[in-house]
Amino acid sequence: PKQPLVLGIESSCDETGVGIVRGTTLLTNTVSSSMDEHVRFGGVIPEIASRAHLDAFVPTLQEALHEAGVTLEDVDAIAVTSGPGLAGALMVGVCAAKALSVATGKPLYAINHLVAHVGVGLLDSKPDAGAAAGQLPQNLGALLVSGGHTEILRIRSITDDVELLGSTIDDAAGEAYDKVARILGLGYPGGPAIDKLARQGNPKSIRFPRGLTQPKYMGTAEEKGPHRYDWSFSGLKTAVARCVEQFEARGEEVPVADIAAAFQEAVVDVISSKAVLACKEHGITDVLLGGGVAANSRLRELTGQRCVSAGIKLHVPPLDLCTDNGAMVAALGAQLIMAGIGPSGIAFAPDSSMP
Ligand code: KG4
Ligand code: ZN
Repeated sequence: PKQPLVLGIESSCDETGVGIVRGTTLLTNTVSSSMDEHVRFGGVIPEIASRAHLDAFVPTLQEALHEAGVTLEDVDAIAVTSGPGLAGALMVGVCAAKALSVATGKPLYAINHLVAHVGVGLLDSKPDAGAAAGQLPQNLGALLVSGGHTEILRIRSITDDVELLGSTIDDAAGEAYDKVARILGLGYPGGPAIDKLARQGNPKSIRFPRGLTQPKYMGTAEEKGPHRYDWSFSGLKTAVARCVEQFEARGEEVPVADIAAAFQEAVVDVISSKAVLACKEHGITDVLLGGGVAANSRLRELTGQRCVSAGIKLHVPPLDLCTDNGAMVAALGAQLIMAGIGPSGIAFAPDSSMP
């Protein structure tokens, strides 16, 4: 069909997402999160996430169908995240999708979660989602920043040509926020708390290290270093811990807001500078921001400014489409169908470390 009706299922982490699209039009995006159950552990517990998916899946599916005003019979295809993510969590969504496919006879598409974060930019029903009439910009990049990933990608074709230009070599950006928030006693998830507190602090009060920015890692435009477009956040996290210890050892009050602001500045500075550098050196003219850390006010601000200076257009989808959701899975499934690519069948297994 020209404008296929696609049901998308997402269960790679703590969000149970069911989204429905018709071609490039978003019909509904229903998400249930188990985050409340993980808060007291200070991180997502895989076993709890898996069980929560099991509880939430059918109600989330029913709500999505109801909101979109369609039935399973109307659907042309089912798309499901098959990786990367938590193995047990992925398995719930994949099993549910396979069962629906077998029961209804609808074709099933296995979807790469990271590419789906980009595919969401093709939805045309929201302002500035990155696309006009279902067409991705020609020289497109994607900056994905969340609790699980920190990557800069070049997208030549959403269906078959996505290239990884750079990524974190240790913690993901959101993970760094969460770990530093724990050090500062701000609770979990830490991103929103640090973002808020940082507004009351002085980002210049302390200078935290920017990982992998030394010449031996960066090289030059002609002779690129081994980590020119990569990030590292574990040294930064350690530097924050040392800093807190020093204030405590001196018996001084820990300037939590200043540390939050200075930490945030270090993260955002290095993310935006390396992403913009990678884009400039690859002729990328449009870049899509995705992942939970895309909610960060300073990241949006500084990346926006640097993109303007570099002549790059930054696309920031609405926040509910930046965080994990089923609509992005459905959107990419629809793209595959419209590109004439056949379904995956039901013999695939979830792949928690899918590249
Ligand atoms: O995309 P997401 O909902 O889930 C995955 O990790 O895939 O991202 C969650 C991450 C958490 O680490 C959270 O601390 C971070 O995004 N986050 C933020 C902000 N809001 C959420 N980090 C910085 N600033 C924020 N405003
Ligand atoms: Zn994600």
